[in-house]
Amino acid sequence: MRKPMMAGNWKMNKTVAEAKELAQAIQAQVATVEAVDRVLCPPFVCLPAVQDVLANSSIAVGAQNMHWAASGAYTGEVSGEMLQGLAQYVIIGHSERRQYFGETDESVNQKVKAALAHGLIPIVCVGESLEQNEGGQTAAVVTLQVQDALDGVSAEQVQTLVIAYEPIWAIGTGKAATPQQANATCGVVRGVVAHMFDDAVAQATRVLYGGSTNDKNIADIMQQPEIDGALIGGAALKAESYCAMVQTTAQLYA
Ligand code: PGA
Repeated sequence: MRKPMMAGNWKMNKTVAEAKELAQAIQAQVATVEAVDRVLCPPFVCLPAVQDVLANSSIAVGAQNMHWAASGAYTGEVSGEMLQGLAQYVIIGHSERRQYFGETDESVNQKVKAALAHGLIPIVCVGESLEQNEGGQTAAVVTLQVQDALDGVSAEQVQTLVIAYEPIWAIGTGKAATPQQANATCGVVRGVVAHMFDDAVAQATRVLYGGSTNDKNIADIMQQPEIDGALIGGAALKAESYCAMVQTTAQLYA
């Protein structure tokens, strides 16, 4: 059975002091909920403080982005090498990065490979726009994104990484995909992995859903067989809602 994961994407929220406080509050409530992988992804500048708070716990830390080069003349960027020791995971290709910062399937692929080379676990994001959804293109769009993101990645590596299906129209809108919709597209993602590698690899690879998840809808979402967890935005900014989501998931998997 795949281990469930609740990953919090804090996006561009929280000062260092606030991040520390939130990590402490989460640590106090779900430090021992080992049945669920818990990952907190604060902004870069908060990574040392959050890593420090979580140093002796099983709650992991993730970055929200990275550059594919190890170092060099890339003003404003952060490399996988720099994240070593500060993060175990890294979100790659979030739709906000694709939308506002020009990330492409090609750069996502470069980043995925660089993250793996640096011992970081990528949380690779894919998902269709509202227009694509309404045009019935969801499966086709997501298939291409997964194929491109995983190009050149080995079967062994794929099983370690995490793929997050996040329909763009559901992110931050309060309008989550229905559990059935989310399940169907997470199944498409797994099918692509099976096609690129094999069924055993696909069965071992975790696929998360993201987009307006919260403590109210998480139980229905987590009961779907293809969904192995959530990438949580807004609801991850408060310890109460994030921890409730972790606890609900732990109970479902008990
Ligand atoms: P949301 O964000 O939960 O606030 O919709 C999800 C995400 O962007 O990862």
